[in-house]
Amino acid sequence: MKLTDYYRKKIHYEELIATFDDMLILPGYTGFNIDDVDITSSLGNKYQFNMPIMSSAMDTVTEEEMAIKMALLGGLGVLHRNCSYEKQLEMVRKVKRARSFVIDDVATIKNDAKIAEAKLRMESDGISGLVVVDDKDRVCGIFTQRDFPYQEELLNTGDVKDYMTKKVVSITPGASRDEALQKLFENRIEKLPIIEEGKLKGLITIKDLKPEFPLASKDKEGRLLCGLALSPKVPNNMASLSILKEIDAYVDLFFIDVAEFYKKIDIDGAKELMSILESDFILGNIGTYEAAEHLLTKVDFSEQFIALKAGMGSGSICSTSIQTGVGAPTLYATAQVADAIADYNPKIGLISDGGFKNPGDLPKAISVGADMIMSGHFFAGCEESPGYVDTIQGRKVKVYRGMGSKEARVSEYILDRYIEGEGSKTLPEGVSDYVPFVGAVSGVLNSLKEGIRNGMIYAGASNISDMKKVKVGIVSNAGRIEQRPHDLLGRY
Ligand code: XMP
Repeated sequence: MKLTDYYRKKIHYEELIATFDDMLILPGYTGFNIDDVDITSSLGNKYQFNMPIMSSAMDTVTEEEMAIKMALLGGLGVLHRNCSYEKQLEMVRKVKRARSFVIDDVATIKNDAKIAEAKLRMESDGISGLVVVDDKDRVCGIFTQRDFPYQEELLNTGDVKDYMTKKVVSITPGASRDEALQKLFENRIEKLPIIEEGKLKGLITIKDLKPEFPLASKDKEGRLLCGLALSPKVPNNMASLSILKEIDAYVDLFFIDVAEFYKKIDIDGAKELMSILESDFILGNIGTYEAAEHLLTKVDFSEQFIALKAGMGSGSICSTSIQTGVGAPTLYATAQVADAIADYNPKIGLISDGGFKNPGDLPKAISVGADMIMSGHFFAGCEESPGYVDTIQGRKVKVYRGMGSKEARVSEYILDRYIEGEGSKTLPEGVSDYVPFVGAVSGVLNSLKEGIRNGMIYAGASNISDMKKVKVGIVSNAGRIEQRPHDLLGRY
């Protein structure tokens, strides 16, 4: 038996429950040009990402601002579920409207509306302009940030029709990107309504046409990809069900989001949700070969099931393993689930979730089979995460809390992420703490991408699929100490 096989077996099967700090990727022959390294990855042969990184579905990590930025930069931000379906609908609409060549679902306002109403709509929808329509729904103007009167009192009493721009430059349906760009440029405008026989058919905005974010993760219509965490419970009333169906029309990927998915009740719930909804599903989290084998062979999921998410109790804010004695560290869980996917259905994608502390942990997850990685820890301290920047002893910080923490579980929405019932009220499975404020997510992502890219170059893999075949091994305690800064005067 080759030494590598021995080590692989050790990680996978001998119940040596190892994780990132226990293993290393061995250097490999690099026979390609380093500029040719390709870190694009895909999920379920269906979704392509220019960067194999996702932000966690947590209420201190991903709301619309983070989701938009993650998708613009080539990854995915998964919107959390610690809120009502109404709020989830609001968030997914904002993500889907953020960047697209043509906005179908254009925000309009009647010409007899007050300016105060326009202001409220623009603020709540996070947009900079509204198309004004008359009582026959014919376009009669456009009202943008620039049209607000400067006199404070008019903000409440003024009418939209007196301040809107009446001369509307428009384009007809089917116009090309170049025609639209030319018209926007010639008229020095930023918004171009698409009008046919006086009726509004869509809107093109300059920010959607300029390739400002060439790596963005987009759907077929050019809108940003949107992922949303979901309870495995099917709503028990018509009102919630109807909002969920509305959400379904916007979302690309539903993430069934529970601490441990290998449970009959959650599997049945996910199956039923798939029969009601049309978007694709990612199921998780799981931590073992057997769980993946069960989901891949014993449950008859529809084609909407495209990926699994692995890791249990490994998050930096998790206390599940301490509280319950059960867990599956992320590297172990990823390797186990990857083996089952290879054995039973290689079309299914794999996301490695939680426990990442250093950029070098990302290539390690990919080397044992992950298509993408998910982290909350790296992103909770970013400008784009929800919450305020605080200062503690002169350091800028933000709150980062586990979805199983007491603080997060005061809301009813997240209870079924864990074991429900009386126990869940008294036994928190997560903690709440501060993390350093780290500025824009783009900076954090650059370091993470560099960690993956450079790891691939040292390992001799020019793409993600080759990276899954590189040699890995368990590192001894002495080896681990040697592989970090050591024998210095104290900073480390
Ligand atoms: P990191 O290491 O990035 O992990 O902080 C984020 C992942 O942890 C999961 N998560 C939790 N797990 N208790 C848990 O056991 C919790 O309170 C909790 N909150 C989040 C989740 O999978 C996330 O992506």
